[in-house]
Amino acid sequence: MNGVTGRMGHRQHLVRSILAIREQGGVDLGDGTTVWPEPVLVGRREAALHALAREHGLDPGNTSTDLDAVLADDSIDVYFDAQVTSARVDALKKAIAAGKHVYAEKPSATGLDDALELARLARVAGVKHGVVQDKLFLPGLRKLARLVESGFFGRILSVRGEFGYWVFEGDQQQAQRPSWNYRARDGGGITLDMFPHWEYVLHELFGRVRSVQALAVTHVPRRWDEQGEPYTATADDAVYGIFELDGGAVAQLNSSWTVRVNRDELVEFQVDGTEGSAVAGLRGCRVQHRAVTPKPVWDPDVPVTHAFREDWQEVPDNAGFDNGFKAQWELFLRHVCADTPYTWDLFAAARGVQLAELGLRSAAEGRRVQVPELTL
Ligand SMILES: NC(=O)c1ccc[n+]([C@@H]2O[C@H](COP(=O)([O-])OP(=O)(O)OC[C@H]3O[C@@H](n4cnc5c(N)ncnc54)[C@H](O)[C@@H]3O)[C@@H](O)[C@H]2O)c1
Repeated sequence: MNGVTGRMGHRQHLVRSILAIREQGGVDLGDGTTVWPEPVLVGRREAALHALAREHGLDPGNTSTDLDAVLADDSIDVYFDAQVTSARVDALKKAIAAGKHVYAEKPSATGLDDALELARLARVAGVKHGVVQDKLFLPGLRKLARLVESGFFGRILSVRGEFGYWVFEGDQQQAQRPSWNYRARDGGGITLDMFPHWEYVLHELFGRVRSVQALAVTHVPRRWDEQGEPYTATADDAVYGIFELDGGAVAQLNSSWTVRVNRDELVEFQVDGTEGSAVAGLRGCRVQHRAVTPKPVWDPDVPVTHAFREDWQEVPDNAGFDNGFKAQWELFLRHVCADTPYTWDLFAAARGVQLAELGLRSAAEGRRVQVPELTL
């Protein structure tokens, strides 16, 4: 596991996925066997790796600062990467060349050519591959998927998404995201960060993205890094996108690290269809059916007395929801060990990188851009 000292690598992948899987006794394959993940922590700083291993009751001997040596070890089956985005392609290429199955954070690469090359290399090498698509496993989006599959919406007309929160500049209060996110040369930028998520959410729930029109901007050009030093933000910190989907629905998604939250959740999607509508967040999902839709009449001279939000009905859980990252890890380990189907692979990840690349092109050229269907 490379990059486990980072935010995602540590909390979501090591603690809430791999260690949580060990705590529950491994992944039961249903045939009397169990997969037991034994993590080897890889990184650049030995002391940090030792401290991390000790903190979680792992053997500090099972850590390394030498990725090549770890990849040469035949007892290791899977390479996982949660490094900064700019370091991912080289490491994944090495792992694939060493015959390891690979699993990685998104985006798989900073450009489409690299993303497709990774997918092709993995296919030729015959290794199994997966890329994190955690939003699909969130309770709010599972409920939304349930509504889509049941036909609740009728014909889906539009999807409106608001994602974001205020990321502090780092002068008066420390920033809550690493500074590389704001430097283009380090693989930063909110378009590259969020469009890969939006691609699989839109594709899996509503239809493939056919075109993108985006405006990517850097609203806050000066920030302060982890050492308190000022730097110029060279990457976009907000992107406003419109997407045409197969089937005719239109999605409008705002992604911003420069917005103050006045919503119930850090991300919310409103889906409007001919038969009903829904508003889904990370966990919750509320619906309104056609037959119980109020009939507002525009009259700015009269105070609003109708509490519109109270008309909506909460969708029940009806099931337990595990951590999304852990749920996807379990499916990947089953895929590796029991050959079960798995679609969230390097090829799917390349579609996300493609959408980010075309979104940035749309913003740079000031026009709507078609999204061609990818072939390997
Ligand atoms: N799935 C999600 O929802 C989600 C959310 C946030 C980030 N991510 C992805 O996870 C990856 C890591 O993001 P993060 O927020 O955990 O970042 P982070 O800065 O907290 O962690 C980065 C990790 O990479 C290592 N690293 C390797 N080479 C480095 C280099 N040259 N410079 C700096 N660090 C280096 C660091 O030591 C650290 O372990 C990114 O690719 C990002 O796109 C995914």
